[in-house]
Amino acid sequence: MSHAATRYEFTDKESDYASLARELSALLAGESDLIANAASTVALIFDAVPQLNWAGIYFLKDGGLVVGPFQGKPACVRIALGAGVCGAAALQRRTLVVPDVHKFSGHIACDAASNSEIVIPLIVGGTLLGVLDIDSPRLARFDDADRHGLEALAAIFLASQPAGRAG
Ligand code: SME
Repeated sequence: MSHAATRYEFTDKESDYASLARELSALLAGESDLIANAASTVALIFDAVPQLNWAGIYFLKDGGLVVGPFQGKPACVRIALGAGVCGAAALQRRTLVVPDVHKFSGHIACDAASNSEIVIPLIVGGTLLGVLDIDSPRLARFDDADRHGLEALAAIFLASQPAGRAG
């Protein structure tokens, strides 16, 4: 299917993320290719969610994170586990919401425009696949509603993977 190009106002985050979740489910329906679905997921997020300057997925490969499909400026290609917000979220296997990246010890500045960031670990069938990293030029851009909405989108992407369906 084609992207409906629905415009979201994000005045009611819960409702807009719910619509976005339906749109993502439709976009990924019947497709299980990892790169295709990762690319569609980050493209939809970057296009629909306001005030972002970067959205992408890093995959866990050979014990480190390697950049995959993304939208935004070219970014760091490899991040060690434990390094930066991405590496910390991967190591701790939990979502990290950073209101001011300049106050996060070890933050890796890939795009000077980034001021706040959310990183969601992607875990499928108990295995860490990588992380979903989303950056904003606005301080404290991501609240609990964003976190829940974006985690739900990450879960839809993971459910498109064969291991996600099994688990
Ligand atoms: N800021 C991230 C690095 C990735 S870029 O933001 C795309 C970090 O500290 O892990």
